[in-house]
Amino acid sequence: MVHPKSCDSGYHQIPRFSKEKIRHGVSLRGLAALNPAIPWANAQGYFLSLLRSFVAAQRNDFRGSRCDTVRFTDNSFTSVPRMTEPIAYLNGKMIPISEARLSVFDLGVVLGASVTEMIRTFRHQPFRLDQHLIRLGHSLDRVGFPYDMPSDQLRAIVTNVVSHNCELIPETHDLGIIIFITAGQNLTYLGLAGRQQARTASVCVHTFPLPFELWIQKFNDGQHLVTPNIRHIPSESIDPTIKVRSRLHWYLADQQARQTDDSASAVLLDHDGNITETSTGNIFVVHGGQIQTPSPQTTLGGISQQVLSELARSLGYEITHADLRVDDVLAADEVFTSSTPYCLLPVTRFNQQRIGTGRPGKVFGRLVVAWSELVGIDILDQIRTGAAERLKTANLEMADCETNG
Ligand SMILES: Cc1ncc(COP(=O)(O)O)c(C=O)c1O
Repeated sequence: MVHPKSCDSGYHQIPRFSKEKIRHGVSLRGLAALNPAIPWANAQGYFLSLLRSFVAAQRNDFRGSRCDTVRFTDNSFTSVPRMTEPIAYLNGKMIPISEARLSVFDLGVVLGASVTEMIRTFRHQPFRLDQHLIRLGHSLDRVGFPYDMPSDQLRAIVTNVVSHNCELIPETHDLGIIIFITAGQNLTYLGLAGRQQARTASVCVHTFPLPFELWIQKFNDGQHLVTPNIRHIPSESIDPTIKVRSRLHWYLADQQARQTDDSASAVLLDHDGNITETSTGNIFVVHGGQIQTPSPQTTLGGISQQVLSELARSLGYEITHADLRVDDVLAADEVFTSSTPYCLLPVTRFNQQRIGTGRPGKVFGRLVVAWSELVGIDILDQIRTGAAERLKTANLEMADCETNG
């Protein structure tokens, strides 16, 4: 796993504490939420350790304390954990992201046997978290990994990781949130003595600051999509409606697309020659006011695709599913893609040919405005200013990071 650290990856080094955070008292329930992997039965142990912190604070002696500061407010005490580094949840523990390590025996590494979700925040709040958790539940049902964490517990973990890590990014920036769950460890490497680890899924929740600089050029000028000769995995092999991490075919397809144009991304055809999706997004084709997107049987049901459907309806458009061919895309007035981290991006070139006017279209523009109204921020402005700020902080030029977004 890669461990982004502090400001290199867009996190501040110096923590900012919100008044709300400081006001939150630590109750036993709050503690269980802070580390939801700890069962209620252990809450007593937690309470004792807090009591020790309390006594240590009284003595002005923090040795042995789990907390960096213990404050008193309204006859209650509030713990503020160390905030100098983003945290992650991994297999029962909240840890600094730099300590989040997955075993090389893990089937997520060995086989790519892992299901995942990517969520994002708007104004530091997870967006459509329930819908992402429902899709994750669907993925887990289909793969049958040895995983049994209740959804509420996972939701609490996400909420805690996000509220901690949002303190480390500028107020106007947002986070991507990753959940991944693997099939556990490889029994062949462990032997029978390790069967318990082989029967326990690995669970991780981590975040990353959204890399606006990777999208600004594409937002302004549009993406170039290319259909490589690599096809989408047939649904008989891997059901495309589950969000999985086994993605070598996507990697190879994007590599092939970049041989055409360094900034191009792949959109895969299925074995019948129908358009499916990109490695990170759903595609939409506009013909005379009609918006079409490929079949839900051959693609992942995107959460941003659902958002776009709702927004389009509110603007008087209907998004329908259709089998789309390369020629349908080339003949379109407009094409765009949707994906959780960037919301929506225009497509202005397809297989090296211009789409429509060659510029981002009118329907796309209306949907960007509607999406911005829905989430209460101007999403284009956030990408523009966020990109400029992140490039400045990292001392990079736009030309350094135009590719691979
Ligand atoms: C293959 C694929 N299609 C579509 C999407 C878009 O899904 P969402 O809108 O939920 O991000 C993703 C997201 O990563 C994806 O991996």
